[in-house]
Amino acid sequence: MNYKHIPVMLNEALNYLDPQAGQYFIDCTLGGSGYTIEIAKKIGPKGKIIAIDLDKMAIDNAKFQISNFKFQNIILANENFKNITKITKKYFHKKKVDGIVLDLGLSSAQLADRNRGFSFQLDAPLNMSFGCQMSDFGCRTTEDIVNNWKQEKLEKIIREYGEERFAKRIARKIVECRELKSIKTTGRLVEIINQAVPDFYKNKKINCATKTFQALRIASNNELENLQTVLPQAVDLLAPAGRIVVISYHSLEDRIVKNFFRQESRDCLCPPNYPVCQCKHKRQFKILTRKIVRAGEEEVLNNPRSRSAKLRVAEKI
Ligand SMILES: C[S@@+](CC[C@H](N)C(=O)[O-])C[C@H]1O[C@@H](n2cnc3c(N)ncnc32)[C@H](O)[C@@H]1O
Repeated sequence: MNYKHIPVMLNEALNYLDPQAGQYFIDCTLGGSGYTIEIAKKIGPKGKIIAIDLDKMAIDNAKFQISNFKFQNIILANENFKNITKITKKYFHKKKVDGIVLDLGLSSAQLADRNRGFSFQLDAPLNMSFGCQMSDFGCRTTEDIVNNWKQEKLEKIIREYGEERFAKRIARKIVECRELKSIKTTGRLVEIINQAVPDFYKNKKINCATKTFQALRIASNNELENLQTVLPQAVDLLAPAGRIVVISYHSLEDRIVKNFFRQESRDCLCPPNYPVCQCKHKRQFKILTRKIVRAGEEEVLNNPRSRSAKLRVAEKI
């Protein structure tokens, strides 16, 4: 199997997670198994790690990679990490975990897969789902979004998730074209985006379809909702002194993580004008990365994907 993905900020993530022999971990985003295998080596035969991925390709690749692995301490789960509590109960029962890692977004192998619709450079069916059987995982198809969502909604996601300045023009063009014929392939979508944006925008270093593709991928997979759903569950699953490491590649994801960590590191969440606390919220986290951690220069040179990565860590009190 030819699954290529270079793990981003692996050393930094491992330093923060600090896996020890016999400990229990969850890798919510298995991908090319980069983090999972390194953690599995450190926790040894008495430890266990659940490695989750929506993508069967990642799971099959991991099966192949660990077929000769010396310990049998990796449990693979072809699931959505938003179901982390259910998954953890199934394999670890009531046991709390020592660390959780999320390395969000998509892997290089998924982007390079000719049969998937993630890349604007390859013509493929318009399906940007991480899991292949979308209905099993509650994902929407990209084709459905592009052909059925109202123009305003399309514009909103292209602007917000893609940070695309020509969102209005792109959404308008999509609606205009789909009225003539359904849009079924990534190639057709790229043509439409090219028709929508002004000429100067087509000659930029970044392809003019990049941001729209990113927006549609985030919407197709409910990426922000999944992140919002998994974080509160992760707090409950961690043992005292257990750590959560999140690597994000998009400012909206990073904001969700930052705000959640801040909220969970405060005792009371009542509005400032309340004289007495009503919420009784107790802090559960100590934030270990007051400033976000970024990939070093050398890593960015060797793996350009790491340029946009932001790593944040919190520790359960
Ligand atoms: C950036 S890659 C992870 C790379 C991995 N850390 C490594 O070292 O190879 C992200 C992976 O997360 C998976 N993924 C994204 N959202 C998911 C979700 N909600 N549930 C499960 N897997 C998800 C993707 O399918 C992809 O394989």
